[in-house]
Amino acid sequence: MDKLIIDGGNPLRGSVQISGAKNAALPILVATLLAPGEHELHNVPELVDVSFMLSLLGRIGCPSLVGDGKGPECVRLDTSRVAFSEAPYDVVRKMRASVLVLGPLLARCGRAQVSMPGGCAIGTRPIDQHLKGLEALGCTFELDGGYIRGKVDQLVGAEINLDMPTVTGTENILMAAVLAEGESVIRNAAAEPEIVDLVRFLRSMGARIRGEGTSTLEIDGVPALRPARRPYSILADRIEAGTYLLGAAITGGDVMAKGAPAEEMSAVLEALEATGCEVEVTDEGVRVSRSGPLRPVSIETTPHPGFPTDMQAQWMALMTQADGTSEVLETIFENRFMHAAELIRMGAKIQIAGNQAMVEGGDLKGATVMATDLRASASLVLAGLVAEGRTEMLRLYHLDRGYSHLVDKLKTLGAEVARVPDDVRVTTGKAPAATAAV
Ligand code: UD1
Repeated sequence: MDKLIIDGGNPLRGSVQISGAKNAALPILVATLLAPGEHELHNVPELVDVSFMLSLLGRIGCPSLVGDGKGPECVRLDTSRVAFSEAPYDVVRKMRASVLVLGPLLARCGRAQVSMPGGCAIGTRPIDQHLKGLEALGCTFELDGGYIRGKVDQLVGAEINLDMPTVTGTENILMAAVLAEGESVIRNAAAEPEIVDLVRFLRSMGARIRGEGTSTLEIDGVPALRPARRPYSILADRIEAGTYLLGAAITGGDVMAKGAPAEEMSAVLEALEATGCEVEVTDEGVRVSRSGPLRPVSIETTPHPGFPTDMQAQWMALMTQADGTSEVLETIFENRFMHAAELIRMGAKIQIAGNQAMVEGGDLKGATVMATDLRASASLVLAGLVAEGRTEMLRLYHLDRGYSHLVDKLKTLGAEVARVPDDVRVTTGKAPAATAAV
């Protein structure tokens, strides 16, 4: 296993290309199951989670080719044949988003067997809403040996009221409803930009959907879908972009996130402006710089278009550098403050009470820290960039799930950062040359 070594103190400066969104790529890859044939996707981020999803699709019987002379972000998939309708435990345990195959497999094969996703570092994350929606469309489920087994003769359109606007739940139900007989309505649907991207992709295959980006999705089922005529390009990653822009803010630097989807990032950009950072939206992307002090700004995570829970950990890191105290309120997941304990080990002054964290600005010192989940890891990287001295972050694999070429991108922006095997001890000097790019 590798660790990340960061020598703090360099302001991030320059421009960085933002990759395709992980959370759009995963459901879109799965949605290809709905239309038998050959698909070509562009701007697919080079991430471990994408590789997991491709290997899961391969296990189901759908081979894929990454690159093929068109660059590593081009993926071609052949979904002409589905040989097995099962997502086994050894894949689902590595990536919770594997549960997204449930809706498409039921729509395509009339049956699906998916290992029950376990708990994870950021909470229990049940899938009751996925099942409730699919049941309304006519599916039946049983739990057997840790697997959810679902079957359906004919999907039939229905009205579904979700108890909460679950992102992957909305996607799972939507992907089944597009092939149901008749009309479906999903109320209290999630409105995240990644769902809008999935709707656009489904539409390019012939699906009939209205209301994307709002809390009501209306779907007119069609008998069959066919692969999109042109390659589909995945939306840029607003969370990756936000993380680099917070990197500029925390280090007092100046970063242009090329291709960042400004409109989809308004809550984060408004919060950054409130801290006193300069935020500029151009045709090229979003630029953030800071030359003065950082004002404390409190945030509360809410569904889109509110402040995203996937930026909460990074915001907490930023607020450790503010001139004063701010509040971070997490309302989406019940256990998403794992990064706080590690930030405290670096000298941060954070007090947690339930889903509320009070963060007081102060100096950070480099330390050896442990990444616990994807966005927690990103917050520790941000803290390491501004901390005095060296930070070593273990369990780097979390970052590989969601940040494409992180080390290279940070280096381009002037960070002293390297990826080395866990057992290498570096005692003096600047960060050593990286052994491999992420
Ligand atoms: C997705 C994102 C993740 C992001 C999250 C919230 C993907 C692959 N992942 O995760 O990065 O942090 O949205 O924006 O897109 N819930 C239930 N029952 C359900 C479903 C959800 O109680 O059936 C609860 C969850 O426990 C959580 C809340 O609803 O408290 C929101 O979760 P959800 O939107 O489903 O998150 P994911 O889709 O898993």
